[in-house]
Amino acid sequence: GDVTPAPKVKWSFHGLFGTFDRPAAQRGFQVYKEVCAACHGLHLVAYRNLQDLGFSEAEVKSIASGYQVTDGPNDAGEMFQRPGRPSDRFVKPFPNDNAARAGNNGALPPDLSLMTKARPDGHNYLHALMIGYEKAPADVQLADGQHYNKYFPGHKIAMPQPLNEGQVTFADGTKATVEQMANDVTVFLAWAAEPELERRHQLGLQVLLFLIVATGVFYAAKRRIWKDLH
Ligand code: HEM
Repeated sequence: GDVTPAPKVKWSFHGLFGTFDRPAAQRGFQVYKEVCAACHGLHLVAYRNLQDLGFSEAEVKSIASGYQVTDGPNDAGEMFQRPGRPSDRFVKPFPNDNAARAGNNGALPPDLSLMTKARPDGHNYLHALMIGYEKAPADVQLADGQHYNKYFPGHKIAMPQPLNEGQVTFADGTKATVEQMANDVTVFLAWAAEPELERRHQLGLQVLLFLIVATGVFYAAKRRIWKDLH
């Protein structure tokens, strides 16, 4: 379809030394939990992973126990519901794809675990998608359940605008503009898709330092070995 390039955002986690902005990621989790999770799963992430973002063990326990998880079978061979534990993966909003479609006009809300990697320029795209809802131009016909989004390929998207000014009340007092929530949920979902990013950046830095030092050592050794020929 017809693609509009997403505006470029300066993400703190891009670049050689990039790290996730913890307060932004925590706010983004709040946006995911209170808004996106009504329709989208995040099945690769476990509640305990949230400790990476600076949530305490007690906070994670309390977050997890706020969900009902299907477990079993028990001794009687039955499945049963119990409160979530930190080791559980994020619960899905729908039991299966058919139920998810039935709740969304036939469209399937994709799992968001790897979404930022699944789309080209994924971080900028996700942010753009959140701020890209507009009134459809006069020459565009929308079917029932379709919405116009400037950045969605083809522009006709089944997802209604998820973020509106003041949609959430941030625990840290940050004003919940659409731009702010779009930014923060993108940071959160970037972390969800690449929780190892910071370790990777750190390792890259260590490798670079090692190579710099090794270059010096070998250069000194070379000078020594060949010194009689100078
Ligand atoms: C699709 C993100 C909230 C329903 C998508 C896509 C993303 C996304 C990245 C994929 C777009 C693509 O294919 O390129 C989010 C985020 C949300 C959110 C970050 C919270 C801020 C919701 C909510 C609903 C919903 C609350 C249901 C009311 C859908 C549906 C699709 C979709 C049905 C499929 C759209 C299509 O293929 O036409 N969403 N979403 N989303 N979302 Fe959401």
